[in-house]
Amino acid sequence: MSDRPRLLPLLGTTRHGSRDAMTCLYRCGNACDHPVPNTSDNAYFGDLVDAEVSRRGVVRAGAVGALVLGFGGAAAGALAGAGAASAAPAAPAVPDAAGFGRPGGGIGSGALTFKPVPPNKLDSFIVPNGYDHTVVIRWGDEVIPGAPEFDLHHQTAAAQAKQFGYNNDFVGVLPLSRNRALLVVNHEYTNEDLMFPGFTSLDALSVEQLKVAMAAHGMSVVELERVGGSGEWRPVKSGRRQYNRRVTANTTKFELTGPAAGSAWLKTAADPKGRTVIGTLNNCAGGVTPWGTVLSGEENFNQYFVGGDGAPEQLKPQLARYGISTTSRYPSGNRKWERADERFDLAKHPNEAHRFGWIVEIDPYDPESRPRKHTALGRFKHEGANVIVANSGHVVAYMGDDERFDYLYKFVSDKKFMPGNSWVARNHNLTLLESGTLYVAKLDYTSAAEIDGSGKLPADGAFNGRGQWIKLVSGNRSYVEGMTAADVLTFTRLAGDKVGATKMDRPEDVEPSLLTGKVYVALTNNTNRGVGSNPKADEANPRTANKHGHVLELVEDRNDNTSETFVWSVPIVAGDPTDPSTYFAGYDKTKVSPISCPDNVAFDATGNLWISTDGNALGSNDGLFATAVEGPERGHLKQFLTVPIGAEACGPFITGDNRSAFVAVQHPGEITGASVEKPASNWPDGDYAKPGVVVTWRVDGGPIGS
Ligand code: FEO
Ligand code: CA
Ligand code: CA
Repeated sequence: MSDRPRLLPLLGTTRHGSRDAMTCLYRCGNACDHPVPNTSDNAYFGDLVDAEVSRRGVVRAGAVGALVLGFGGAAAGALAGAGAASAAPAAPAVPDAAGFGRPGGGIGSGALTFKPVPPNKLDSFIVPNGYDHTVVIRWGDEVIPGAPEFDLHHQTAAAQAKQFGYNNDFVGVLPLSRNRALLVVNHEYTNEDLMFPGFTSLDALSVEQLKVAMAAHGMSVVELERVGGSGEWRPVKSGRRQYNRRVTANTTKFELTGPAAGSAWLKTAADPKGRTVIGTLNNCAGGVTPWGTVLSGEENFNQYFVGGDGAPEQLKPQLARYGISTTSRYPSGNRKWERADERFDLAKHPNEAHRFGWIVEIDPYDPESRPRKHTALGRFKHEGANVIVANSGHVVAYMGDDERFDYLYKFVSDKKFMPGNSWVARNHNLTLLESGTLYVAKLDYTSAAEIDGSGKLPADGAFNGRGQWIKLVSGNRSYVEGMTAADVLTFTRLAGDKVGATKMDRPEDVEPSLLTGKVYVALTNNTNRGVGSNPKADEANPRTANKHGHVLELVEDRNDNTSETFVWSVPIVAGDPTDPSTYFAGYDKTKVSPISCPDNVAFDATGNLWISTDGNALGSNDGLFATAVEGPERGHLKQFLTVPIGAEACGPFITGDNRSAFVAVQHPGEITGASVEKPASNWPDGDYAKPGVVVTWRVDGGPIGS
């Protein structure tokens, strides 16, 4: 594999931090060029609470820790052998509770001793000394057994629907046994400039090419096998591979569940009952549930629709709040898919847009199962969702709406998680996200008057405060004036506006540590913060023109994840550590790696926080970083790996045995001016750029990071 470091000239134009103009176009439909969709006047200057809000370092290891550890990262250990459920009359095999096996030690036992990778602009995947890596699967590789060999010059939608899709984002690895696993990956979006030889414009693409792009969206499930006894994994290449599956923008019969299913907002000509949707779009991050399914967030769905100017007048405010232009037929950045399928034309099918922007649940252990869109978790530009089982047994999903000045949410299930691997438990747990209570976060501050937008810490030494989860809807009951439950769930952003939710700097991945119950929020950036008439810096979003983003930590009151109140703090204000506006939990900044634009977060089995970046605005490639969040090493952030030129580091996923770190290399070589013929990156094969999933492991077989 020609993965040697190469330096290539940067061709492109960067904007909005360091995001390349080409990424802006394809990733989010030039969202930054459009007005900030949140024009609500809900800036909240809440009661200043006692300045003595303390950081609660409570480590929770009791019942919940024990309950979830066995699942958690290695989530579906309990389900090993439970696959092909519909076809298996026999009781499921008794699993290895930890799936891959479990590392010893407890919280903080995994000291991060690796030597950090320095910032760089190499066109290569760089790992620390003592580590190795390989590409597990790349765009075009076989997923469905018998898929045609990838043919760059003769791509067809039928072939792509059996091959690994484009722009891998979320990565989950769910165990079948110690040496077999299911890789579940999102394919967020396509870049036709870099996919099709001879590309000139989206308008010039054939309908078949548009359908290739649709088939390159969605998700993949791929059966993996461990290589030797190592941390390396590869796709199973022969035999039945019964779990391998592709879901695309054209997969039929996604099922809508929950209170908004069947509502008037979701009915279309093709689906007069409002209960089934064709396909999924722009699947960004996600999470593995304790019952062994995968949640996937439908994010920038707005860019796939045209004709918002021709939608009914009474729908236009709702469409606009979701970033859909209601003044032009072809807003900048739209994908032109209506040429292949008229459902993407809102002048003809105005409700079709409401059928995207949900959390999708897919059961990788049952390849015949219908993916479901859960309306109870609300509709916004979902980055992802991550679940923890609360002390009470209710499951709690944490979620971010990835847009400047949008909100942070959580969902608490009505029903309780049922442990064990019986079919009764499995079937029960599959219904947990169908009914519950949806909340939006409102943050109060301890030192609001001291925040000047420079990143300077207030006198009490921390950006922190208390917060409350404001109830939006519970089951079929709405708590938002003038909105029904279906209204709240379908137009959740508008509900958040009404109740005065706190406007955040692009909440991306939100993930609870299964060891402590504390919740971590990646706030990627917001260069509009405090600029012009936009909301000013506040204690939770403390920098004007926040170019590098920050990380928020929530500790729920009583360490109860169903609590309606919490304490928050900002442990990391990202950037170059020599920049006085940065903060790394008070750790010695001379020992910290520069980091910019935290996006996805994950935990290893000993509770270290892993952070991948999107759009490094410090001039280096994106990468994956790790830090302890408990104990004296809290804030000692180190760069673990970097991805090639133009790419974003997605995933990440550390297996439950801490032996393997998976990262999705998304949009390598995505630099304006690049093409198949003139790639800006040669990764991974030395020719044109291809997104792919990489696994990294320690050569000596030891735990990752230590
Ligand atoms: Fe798809 Fe929020 O990044
Ligand atoms: Ca992302
Ligand atoms: Ca994550």
